Amino acid sequence: MSAFYREKVLSVQHWTDTLFSFRATRDTGFRFQNGQFAMIGLEVDGRPLLRAYSMASANHEEELEFFSIKVQDGPLTSRLQKIKEGDTILVGRKATGTLITDNLIPGKRLMLLSTGTGLAPFASLIKDPEVYEQFESIVLVHGCRQVSELAYGEKLVANLREDELFGELLADKLIYYPTVTREPFRNRGRITDLINSEQIFNDIGQSPLNIETDRIMMCGSPAMLEELKAMFESRDFVEGSGNKPGHFVIEKAFVER
Ligand code: A2P
Repeated sequence: MSAFYREKVLSVQHWTDTLFSFRATRDTGFRFQNGQFAMIGLEVDGRPLLRAYSMASANHEEELEFFSIKVQDGPLTSRLQKIKEGDTILVGRKATGTLITDNLIPGKRLMLLSTGTGLAPFASLIKDPEVYEQFESIVLVHGCRQVSELAYGEKLVANLREDELFGELLADKLIYYPTVTREPFRNRGRITDLINSEQIFNDIGQSPLNIETDRIMMCGSPAMLEELKAMFESRDFVEGSGNKPGHFVIEKAFVER
C-alpha cells in the first residue's frame, strides 16, 4: 500500500500574490481530527515532494481543503501554486498535530490565535459542531500585514454565518477578530500587543484573560508563537500535549515550502 492517497484537484482560488487555497477529493479512508495536518504535495520527477499542511476543511466534509502560501523559489509551492482542476496531488495517509481540543483542559472561552496561513487549522475547527458544545465562546483572531491577506478568512466566516446548519450555532458563539499591522484597518496591531494591552477584549466586549476559563490554540509565525508562549507561561498557563492536556497548544505554520 502506498503511503499516499492520490487525490484530484477540484478547484483552486488565488487570494493574493502570496496566498491561495484549493479543494481536492478525499479518500473515504482518510481520517483526521479537526485541527490536524498531513503531508501533502506533488510527484516531481517520479518522487513525492511533500510539506506539512493543516486541513482547512472539517472532518465531516466530503472534500479536502488547504490554504497555502506561495513561495516563488519554494520547492513545493512554486509548483503547487500552478495546480489546476483535474490535477493530482498526494495526501499522506497519516494525519497528526497538537491543535485538537483533546489536548486542552475543559474551559469556557477558546481563543484561536493565528497569523498568515496559520489560520488553516482553525478553519477546520470552527466548522466542528463539538467545539461549539465544548466552549461557550470561540474567538478567532487572524493577524496579517495587509488587509488583502484577510480575504480567505473573511469569506470563510461569512459563508459559515450564512450556512443553514452552522449559522445559528455560530451566531452568538463565534467572534472573528481580524487584525492588520502594516496598513489602516478597523483592528490594528500585533496579536501579542492586542492581548497584552487588553485592547482585543475591550473591542469584543469580553472579559480579559483568565486562566480559569481561557483555553488557547495558536498557529503562525515562529516569532509570534515564541512571544505568545512566553506571555502565557508568565501568567501560569501550561502547554498541553497528547500526553497531558493544558491551557494552550501550539503549532508552527511553516514557511519554507
Ligand atoms: P508585523 O507586520 O508587525 O511584523 P509574517 O507575514 O511576517 O509572517 O507576519 C504575519 C503577521 O504576524 C504580521 O501582522 C506581523 O506583524 C505579525 N508578527 C510577526 N512577528 C510577530 C511577533 N513576534 N509577535 C506578534 N506578531 C508578529
